[in-house]
Amino acid sequence: MSEVPVRLIVLASGSGSTLQAILEAAAEDDFPARVVAAGTDRPGCLAMKRAADAGVPTFSVALADYPDRAAWDEALATAIAEFDPQLVVLAGFMRVIAAGTVARYRTINTHPSLLPSFPGAHALADALAAGVRVSGVTVHWVDAGLDSGPIIAQAPVQVLADDTEDTLRERVQTIEKPLYVSTIRQLCHSLEERTS
Ligand code: GAR
Repeated sequence: MSEVPVRLIVLASGSGSTLQAILEAAAEDDFPARVVAAGTDRPGCLAMKRAADAGVPTFSVALADYPDRAAWDEALATAIAEFDPQLVVLAGFMRVIAAGTVARYRTINTHPSLLPSFPGAHALADALAAGVRVSGVTVHWVDAGLDSGPIIAQAPVQVLADDTEDTLRERVQTIEKPLYVSTIRQLCHSLEERTS
């Protein structure tokens, strides 16, 4: 079997605690992947600082810097191509990626609900507003839609009667990080086997 680690790009828009968990896992000797770059649509976000602190190259592609969405889509695809990844990992990246880019690169996402319930940027608030007593986490392949694409793994999280968005987020993210890291590990092992 190939011993060359799988090349990951992680895209993030926010605080980057999910990226941090991936960086820490990838620092372990037996992890089958390494993070070759981290990218964002929000220059200056904490996620990029975490990547830089870990010695990982970063790039920013801010929508406001491009005349239209198509130009931004192309700039993001160009930035990704520069690092020739085998897997693109979304970790709180809050924009939909162009169909051509997700067709070109295997891309996965983690989302804080049991999809197909509560897609979008307000999954936790939407779950609380709906009054569900169980929500959770979904790891899925990314297609051209919003939090759509084939589901790879899911885990349930209980919603308590007195939960706020913050308390639910904390409980969800406690489950989400190990689920995402172990899913990435499994996918990268199978990518290694395919390239051996
Ligand atoms: C994660 O909980 C992730 O599931 C969510 O953003 C959070 C990022 O947190 N993603 C989505 O909602 C995607 N639709 P972080 O910035 O602390 O890693």
